[in-house]
Amino acid sequence: MPALSSSPAWQALQAHSEDLRSSGFRIAEQFRDSNRFRDFSLRQGELLLDYSKNYCSPDTLTLLLDLAEQQGVSAAIAAMFAGEHINASEDRAALHTALRLPAAANPRPEVLACLNKMNDFVSAIHSGSWTGFDGQAITDVVNIGIGGSDLGPAMVTEALADFASGKLRLHFVSNIDPNHVQSTLKQLNPATTLFIIASKSFRTQETHANAQQARRWFLAHCNDESQIAKHFVAISTNLQAAQAFGIDPENLFPLWDWVGGRYSLWSAIGLSIALAIGMKNFQSLLAGAHAMDEHFRQAALQENMPVVLALLAVWYGGFLGARSNAVVPYAHRLREFPLFLQQLSMESLGKSVTSAGEPLDVASGDVIWGAEGSNGQHSFFQLLHQGSDLIPVDFIALARGNANADPVQHQQLLANCLSQSMALMQGRANSEQAHRHYAGNKPSNTLLLAELNPYNLGSLIALYEHKVYVQSVLWGINAFDQWGVELGKELSDSVMQAFVDSEAKQALDESSRGLIDQIAEWS
Ligand code: F6P
Repeated sequence: MPALSSSPAWQALQAHSEDLRSSGFRIAEQFRDSNRFRDFSLRQGELLLDYSKNYCSPDTLTLLLDLAEQQGVSAAIAAMFAGEHINASEDRAALHTALRLPAAANPRPEVLACLNKMNDFVSAIHSGSWTGFDGQAITDVVNIGIGGSDLGPAMVTEALADFASGKLRLHFVSNIDPNHVQSTLKQLNPATTLFIIASKSFRTQETHANAQQARRWFLAHCNDESQIAKHFVAISTNLQAAQAFGIDPENLFPLWDWVGGRYSLWSAIGLSIALAIGMKNFQSLLAGAHAMDEHFRQAALQENMPVVLALLAVWYGGFLGARSNAVVPYAHRLREFPLFLQQLSMESLGKSVTSAGEPLDVASGDVIWGAEGSNGQHSFFQLLHQGSDLIPVDFIALARGNANADPVQHQQLLANCLSQSMALMQGRANSEQAHRHYAGNKPSNTLLLAELNPYNLGSLIALYEHKVYVQSVLWGINAFDQWGVELGKELSDSVMQAFVDSEAKQALDESSRGLIDQIAEWS
């Protein structure tokens, strides 16, 4: 197999990108063909993807679809759903889609049993039949986890706050910085607090340290180990380690190795979400994701939202020099969405060898960043409009605000969103004053949701999950492992040792030794 950059489809795109550049291609001019919006938009349920404001012509899309065909995207989609071991380096399937299959069509009894267990648990907590050590009902839930065991649940819980049952306050503790757990514990009453230890491996240093702090804090108030069962539950594949921590086997929710950490909010890792919004809404989140799964599995490539998004991302990174992608939700409730996407995308696509172990000869995963609009307009948008880098933007907007939103103010929000993508595309020439010149021709997608509800959010997240997978297939890399994070974890053990053992310190580099000495002097 030739290297990707010398493959026929890649070469054709290379030549095409040079043609577009030399012809002075302008996105805004493409709208002279009045069907551009119709032809360059896709709808799935209550999600509309408008990709008409991209630096691409119909020919670009044809050539990108040729690349998809060359790289075997259709077969790769089928392989994922069939449970093939597409995570080759760990010899595992990536079957997060099985977590959101409707009950009647779900061949995995363990998934249904886990959902039933979650249902019983949520009912017991909400009804108050589950009580703490002194007989009071639970009022606060603290999810202790990090990465995929934190970002997804925290983002969804915040996004769907308007759907919260109102019975519980949710807290998320992730950082190993002791301030995070301490400042959270300070607000809580141990008699009415439930801790969820969310860790696929149950070996993650941060989660372990925070869980131990929580355990000590709890015992300092209650002083009865047997009461831990009423205040600590866990979700893990490592049932032994969870039990060793003191979790009652009854309070252990299972997870399976075919669920990747950053794809796990649909599993029992989403228990905090279910507690916040209730099981019915959690099921609706799963149903929305399943609808996107079905679209992804069945739609022709040119009508397939995740495929189109992935092709455009590969186009910008591979042929137009883009190295980052801004994601800007015009929704305060979605302000944590860019953080969630960072792990989903960068942990999946930050690779430079192919699944076959060969060096990848084109640029792969780009930097995902962003923040809520309209706030971003007053911080980083200057760089989008007049900076020297090409930074494609994904705008996310809600046609309807929540029930209490002032309709006129919501329209102002939407007007801000639409005007930014217009300004980026159109620009405004000023030959007199260079600093007032807007070059324009800057690409963006707009994802419009009818409203933010559990179902639509499920679809939106699944859309990006599948986009990331297709990008990985186009580049021939494995989206489901994350070996790059291991070295730092190992070295942190050596540094801990070096803090207390001068021989271990001598084995470190001079910069690290210097920093350790300064820390010692100041601490
Ligand atoms: O550091 C990377 C990582 O393994 C992520 O992939 C994962 O989501 C996170 O750590 C937390 O892992 P765990 O759920 O096993 O504690």
